[in-house]
Amino acid sequence: MAEYKRGFTVGTFDMFHIGHLNLVRQAKEYCDYLIVGVHSDEWVMCCKNRPTVISYEDRAEIVGAIRYVNEVVKNETHSKMEAWKKYHFDVAFIGDDWKGTEVWNKIEAELKSVGCDVVYIPYTQGISTTQIRQKLKNLAVEKMEKK
Ligand code: CTP
Repeated sequence: MAEYKRGFTVGTFDMFHIGHLNLVRQAKEYCDYLIVGVHSDEWVMCCKNRPTVISYEDRAEIVGAIRYVNEVVKNETHSKMEAWKKYHFDVAFIGDDWKGTEVWNKIEAELKSVGCDVVYIPYTQGISTTQIRQKLKNLAVEKMEKK
């Protein structure tokens, strides 16, 4: 038995990479049942102001196929309390790049009031969806310059 019963994390998981895998693998070590929220395409367009490379359906299917993930849910909100009301998890996970930020200090306090902890998972340095996008752009530019 793990320390917590039901855990929750949420992200875009676009172009699923090793940082995403490390996050869900470590999260699962803390809980028996891991629920992963995947942002809808509309949420990403609205909040990150860019379209995803991979569609919601495919991102959700990829995340759901990871052995550490017990359930995938579509996420269309910023509010962790709204998610908590739906899924009643007793721990929420997020990369430690968010630790100490105003946003997560507030979320921590809100979740604490309903008996839910927040665990910060070590962020994997040197990789992100943004970095992959940039690398692909650089490669395309290099290719154009060689022509
Ligand atoms: N994450 C991580 N290590 C990374 C990248 C992401 O631990 N190198 C974690 C984030 O902290 C978050 C989750 O993975 O808890 C989902 O992050 P997401 O925003 O989907 O991925 P990023 O690669 O960070 O995407 P972007 O570059 O668009 O912000």
